[in-house]
Amino acid sequence: MLITSVVTSYVLIDKENQLTEHVLAGHLVALLISFRIIWGFLGVKCSGHEDLLRKIPQVPMYFKNYFNKNRGSYMGHNPASALYVLSIMSLLILVTLSGSLLYGIQENSGIFAGLNENYSDWMLLIESFHKISTTVLLVFILSHVTGVILNLIFNGSDVILGMINGKRRGTDFDVVLTIQQHIFGVVWIVSALSLATYFYYNPDNILTEDKSIEIDFRRESYETSSGCGSCHMVYPAYLLPKQSWNEMMDNLENHFGKDASRPEEEAQLIREYLMNNAAEHSTKEAAVKILDRLGEKTPAAITETNYWREKHKDITKEQFEADYGIKSDCRTCHKTIRDGLIQDKDIKFKY
Ligand code: HEC
Ligand code: HEC
Repeated sequence: MLITSVVTSYVLIDKENQLTEHVLAGHLVALLISFRIIWGFLGVKCSGHEDLLRKIPQVPMYFKNYFNKNRGSYMGHNPASALYVLSIMSLLILVTLSGSLLYGIQENSGIFAGLNENYSDWMLLIESFHKISTTVLLVFILSHVTGVILNLIFNGSDVILGMINGKRRGTDFDVVLTIQQHIFGVVWIVSALSLATYFYYNPDNILTEDKSIEIDFRRESYETSSGCGSCHMVYPAYLLPKQSWNEMMDNLENHFGKDASRPEEEAQLIREYLMNNAAEHSTKEAAVKILDRLGEKTPAAITETNYWREKHKDITKEQFEADYGIKSDCRTCHKTIRDGLIQDKDIKFKY
């Protein structure tokens, strides 16, 4: 179940509109690993934390004698695989924890939703941490699978079967569970299956709840909403830096080939609103990342920012025009942008 959840979560990282599924699979990983950690305290032979920790000091010796015939035979994990199990558990904790934090900070969703407001400065750092720990996890998993296969080929070890039934061929060494440990095992399996079923039928639940607040443009700035919304949708101010808005407001007579000039007083109010709500003043993911990848030139449009280009590079011009109208009408794919929100789960687009 752990493997299935990790793989499911991993294959969904590429597309932003599958973020909810990614996050749900991640929660399953967290549940499974929590049970594994409790299991380690139940005193089960071989898989208990104590048994594993006791073997760690022997790791250097194990590798030193690796190619000797008499490198010793171990019941349960050898020192290297004990270290591996402990590392994998730690890595899974780091990956799921950083993922939850990132979901809260970046998407304002999930158990850490409140963090978006005050901790958006940490967004890029936590994102890097989440990505790096995932990569390390992947390297560990691949080396583990390789190890098991090599062991099977060269030593004919029945380690896989042993993982399931706790028995080891050719030895009288079996792991016998007490009734309490058996019950715990059943609870573990049933909880994970129930949660997976629940997630399948209720993807929108308390763990994926989005706490972002909608923006009512008409109320926030009537002038911007009516003055700028007459030709196109109202663009949320956090999608461009101050400098871009300033330059745009300086040149309204020549606005993308149109004369968009407004009466002076109204233009002043619009400029104020845009400046006060520009990317620099926002904690939203798009704002933070647009600023982070700004580059030298001041972008004249949202669709000219590096972040926008990077995120839409896989969508062809034909797709934009044939199925979705013009690229600058964000509403066709970002349904909630009318309310000032660009959330990954709201992206409606078929790749
Ligand atoms: C007279 C019509 C008109 C008015 C009024 C108008 N615009 Fe525009 N705007 C346009 C056109 C046309 C484009 C180019 C759209 C395109 O590229 O498809 C545009 C593009 C934009 C873009 C770039 C969108 C992108 O592709 O990234 C922004 C931002 C923008 N306008 C902001 C404003 C603001 C702010 C105001 C109010 C001060 C405003 N517009 C008023 C016609 C108008
Ligand atoms: C043809 C559909 C389409 C249109 C039109 C479109 N987008 Fe997107 N947008 C997408 C898709 C698909 C993604 C997800 C890309 C990915 O999975 O990496 C995305 C991702 C984004 C992201 C990154 C997600 C995030 O949370 O930061 C931002 C920001 C964004 N779009 C803004 C806009 C804006 C602003 C406009 C209008 C100027 C726009 N998009 C127009 C399809 C579209």
